[in-house]
Amino acid sequence: MRQLDPLSQLRLFENGNKPNGGGAGQNAPRFSCPAFASNKVLPVHRWVPWIAGFSRKFVQSGLERHLQRKGIVLDPFAGVGTTLVEANLAGHDAVGFEINPYAAFASRTKLQAHRTNLNLLRKTIEKFIRFHCTAIENAIDAKAGPPEWFRTRGEFYSPKVLHKVLLTQDFIGQIENRAIADLFRLAFASTMITYSNYSYEPSLGQRVSAGKAKIEDFAVEKEIAQKLNEMACDTLWMKEQLNGNNPKNNVIGRSFFDAYRSVTSNSIDLLITSPPYLNNYHYNRNTRPQLYWLGLVHSAKDLRALEHQNFGKFWQTVRESETIALDPIIKNEEIIESLNTLRKKNPEKGIYGGKGWANYATSYFNDCVRFARGAKWSLRRNGTALVVIGNSILQGLTIPTDRFLGTIAESVGLEMKDIHIPRTARVGNSIIQSGVRVGKATKGHHLYEAIVELRKR
Ligand SMILES: C[S@@+](CC[C@H](N)C(=O)[O-])C[C@H]1O[C@@H](n2cnc3c(N)ncnc32)[C@H](O)[C@@H]1O
Repeated sequence: MRQLDPLSQLRLFENGNKPNGGGAGQNAPRFSCPAFASNKVLPVHRWVPWIAGFSRKFVQSGLERHLQRKGIVLDPFAGVGTTLVEANLAGHDAVGFEINPYAAFASRTKLQAHRTNLNLLRKTIEKFIRFHCTAIENAIDAKAGPPEWFRTRGEFYSPKVLHKVLLTQDFIGQIENRAIADLFRLAFASTMITYSNYSYEPSLGQRVSAGKAKIEDFAVEKEIAQKLNEMACDTLWMKEQLNGNNPKNNVIGRSFFDAYRSVTSNSIDLLITSPPYLNNYHYNRNTRPQLYWLGLVHSAKDLRALEHQNFGKFWQTVRESETIALDPIIKNEEIIESLNTLRKKNPEKGIYGGKGWANYATSYFNDCVRFARGAKWSLRRNGTALVVIGNSILQGLTIPTDRFLGTIAESVGLEMKDIHIPRTARVGNSIIQSGVRVGKATKGHHLYEAIVELRKR
């Protein structure tokens, strides 16, 4: 069990110790590596890890290169808000769309954090630790219960851990200040897997299946207080960075495809985004614990609704459908040929073979059309879109998703300026490499990440 001393952390924060602010610096490369890994130690971004989130440095280099004056930045697939936070820190207004209510909540909480009363936050963290100590010492039962419809195959929390988690819910439930309650909720949600019997591998699964021991007991309150201290520290840093400026931000909890018209047409100066890759990573299933425990979904039906809105839907959602037709605006022969080849792969596997995966890839490219239309609608003339996207290997077939997206964007009238490839190997953030669905990424198939640069004429 990890033992932390949250109050000493808090004193560190009071003494003015600041996190590493990073910064693109004078010699920032043309485009920094878009991978999220470096965000794990950076202020504000480190609050919530997000698979396939991208790095602060990448966003900074995009902003520096394309937005010399104050402007409006859009991220249609905002995740936990890397683009939006960086846009605000650089003085730009920011708007984002995000269907996952947990990610949207994380983005909003980060973007509003600079308004937090830090003295009150500090006192509330101290109170939280005292509340826990008293409750554990006196064996007080928790009043809260686990979310009613949250079901898992194995026991999610061991009994001792569950007691501490429920006490935490009791405490959060009586915090009056909404901003502080939100910080507590986020601190709980972003640490809740650490002390559960589940882990990210990178999909969420039981610890025992990954060869890890169950967690029988854990200093839950200290882990959460540690996270809150980190947040307090970063909030102070953010207040200093903003220096009294208050750029606007708005996180819209709806699908970009359905709601892009809520952004004024021709208003966006720069779009920076990373849509889900064509690798079937299931953001909604993998955040089920956070969604249920924060009360953001209440049933399997709520989750299914999210699946249908997701970019490309999911293989599980479309594999059994009749052949899904490609949007007729896509006339590119290479795309059509690839999908036909994919459809014919491994027919003996039925919907688990090429047939099911071709339906998924087709839905994905149809959604590329919807994305490109939304981008065209929102960008001002000469406005740029930087889209970070990885290629894919489905049923052993390499799909150059970056080039296909560029071609599709051209078919709706955007200009494809360039495809930058900042690194050739992709590691760690894709289930493609786990062999779960596509088998081996065999010799001759390389996974890479690309930045597709589009422009509205
Ligand atoms: C690769 S992640 C983005 C990560 C983000 N760049 C960051 O650093 O946090 C893609 C996100 O798109 C969201 N998403 C998927 N379909 C969407 C849709 N139709 N509209 C809005 N968001 C969507 C997913 O929930 C996921 O959070």
